[in-house]
Amino acid sequence: MKHSALLIAFILSPFAGIHHVQADEQDEHPILLLNEDSTFHFEILGGLGQALTGGGDISPILGAAKNVTPGDFDKFTDIFYRLANETKAAALDPANAYDPINVRDTWFSAASYFRRADSFTHGDWDDPLINQLWEEMLSAFDKGINALPIPGQRVKIPAGNFTVEAIWYSAYSGGKHKKCPTLILGGGYDGAQEDMYHTIVTNALVRGWNALTYEGPGQPTVRRNQNLGFIPHWERVLTPTVDWLLANKRAEVDTKRLALYGHSMGGYLAARAGAFEPRVKAILLNGGIFDVHESYLDQSPAVLTDLYKAGQKDAFDETALSLLSNPNVSSQIRWGIEHGMWAFKTKSPYDFFHQTEQYTLKDVISRIKVPVWIADAELEGFFRGQPQKVKEALGEKATLHPFTGTAGYHCQAGALQELNRAIFAWLHKTLG
Ligand SMILES: *[C@@H]1O[C@H](CO)[C@@H](O)[C@H](O)[C@H]1NC(C)=O
Ligand SMILES: *[C@@H]1O[C@H](CO)[C@@H](O)[C@H](O)[C@H]1NC(C)=O
Ligand SMILES: *[C@@H]1O[C@H](CO)[C@@H](O)[C@H](O)[C@H]1NC(C)=O
Repeated sequence: MKHSALLIAFILSPFAGIHHVQADEQDEHPILLLNEDSTFHFEILGGLGQALTGGGDISPILGAAKNVTPGDFDKFTDIFYRLANETKAAALDPANAYDPINVRDTWFSAASYFRRADSFTHGDWDDPLINQLWEEMLSAFDKGINALPIPGQRVKIPAGNFTVEAIWYSAYSGGKHKKCPTLILGGGYDGAQEDMYHTIVTNALVRGWNALTYEGPGQPTVRRNQNLGFIPHWERVLTPTVDWLLANKRAEVDTKRLALYGHSMGGYLAARAGAFEPRVKAILLNGGIFDVHESYLDQSPAVLTDLYKAGQKDAFDETALSLLSNPNVSSQIRWGIEHGMWAFKTKSPYDFFHQTEQYTLKDVISRIKVPVWIADAELEGFFRGQPQKVKEALGEKATLHPFTGTAGYHCQAGALQELNRAIFAWLHKTLG
C-alpha cells in the first residue's frame, strides 16, 4: 500500500472490470491516469515520485508504463525487471562508475525499479523471483547508500527471537553541534525501508535530521530472511530499535527531538508501539489507523465481508481464492489478498483477515502522551475514516493534517514535496 491507493468508488465496486475505466471514475482522479488499472496507476505514480530524490528517471518509468497491460501482474513484473536490468548495466559500465554521483543515482534507480518489479510477485511463495528481485534490489541499494557523502549504515538489531533490519543515516557533517534531531521511520504492509529513503530520509538529511529506518516481522526483509509474518505487539520491534539507537548513536542524537513516523499501515504500527515508548517525543502517522481489521473489511467486496461476519471460514476461503483467478476482479483486491497472506504468513485468506483483528488501538491509545500528527488524505482508499477515529481518541494531543486534490492520494503518492513540507513544518513547530 505504499503508493497504491484506490478511489473509494472503485473499491466499492470490486467486481467492476479494470480493463475499461469508466469515464466518471477517471474524472475523480485529480491527475492524469498512468494506467487504466488504478492499482498500476498508483504503483507507477509512486515510482515517479521517487525520481524526485534520485530513485528513478521520468521517461524510462513512463516508457515502462506505456507497455503495462491492465490486470497483468506477470507483465508488470517483467517490464520493470527489464528496466532494472538495463539500469544495472549502466551502473556497472566503468565509463560511468568513475563518479560517485553516477554510482549513487544509477544504483538507486536500479534499486527502485527492482522494487517495482517485485510489487506483484507475492501470489506464489515458491516463485524464486520473490527473493531474486529482492537480492538484486538490496545489492543495488547498498551501492547507492555507500556512495552517499556520509554512507548509510545497515544494522541488525537483536529483538528477542527475531532481528530488526535497520539503516542508519547520519546528518552530522562535521560542524560544532554533533547532536541532531532524529526520525525513526517505519513502513507498513508492503513498503520497504529502501522506499522510505526516497520518501522521507533524503528530505530529513537535507534539513539536518538524522534518520533510522527499520523493518520488523511481516515487512520485506524480515519476512524473507527470517521467514516471519506480522506480529501485533509492535513495541517488540520498536523498543529494541530505540535501545540500539541510544546505545550506539547517543552522541549524534538530540534526545529531546526524537520523533517516530509510520507510513501507510505503519501509521497503525507506530501508534501501537509509540504507546509503549516514552523516549519518543512526537509521533507522525501517515495516516492514522485506529483499527486495521475494520479497514480491511471495509475495502473488501461485500460478499467476503458477509461471509467473514457470518464466520463461514470455508466459504470465505473458497470465494476469496476464486477472486484471485477471476480476471474481472480488480488488481487491488487480488494484490491485497495475495500480499496479505504472504505478509501475515497464512495459507488461508480467512486466517489473514482473522489475524488482523488483533491490530487495534482501542486498549493502548490512552497511553500515548506526546503530540501526534495525523495525515488525512482526501482520496484515501485503504484507511478511509480511520484518521478521524485516531484524532477523536487522542483529542487535543493530535493534529489532523488534510491532504487534498493532487496531494490527496494514499500517503501523498506523487506529492512528496508537499508531504515533507508538512511533516517538517509540524516538527519545527512542535519540537523546535
Ligand atoms: C534480468 O537479468 C537476469 C540476470 O541477471 C535474468 O535472469 C533475467 O531474465 C533478466 N530479466 C529480464 C526481464 O530481462
Ligand atoms: C517470540 O517471543 C514472543 C514473546 O517472547 C512469543 O510470544 C512468540 O511466540 C515467540 N515466537 C516464536 C516464533 O518463537
Ligand atoms: C467477466 O466479465 C465478462 C463480461 O461481463 C463476463 O462475460 C465473464 O463471464 C466474466 N468472467 C468471470 C470469470 O466472472
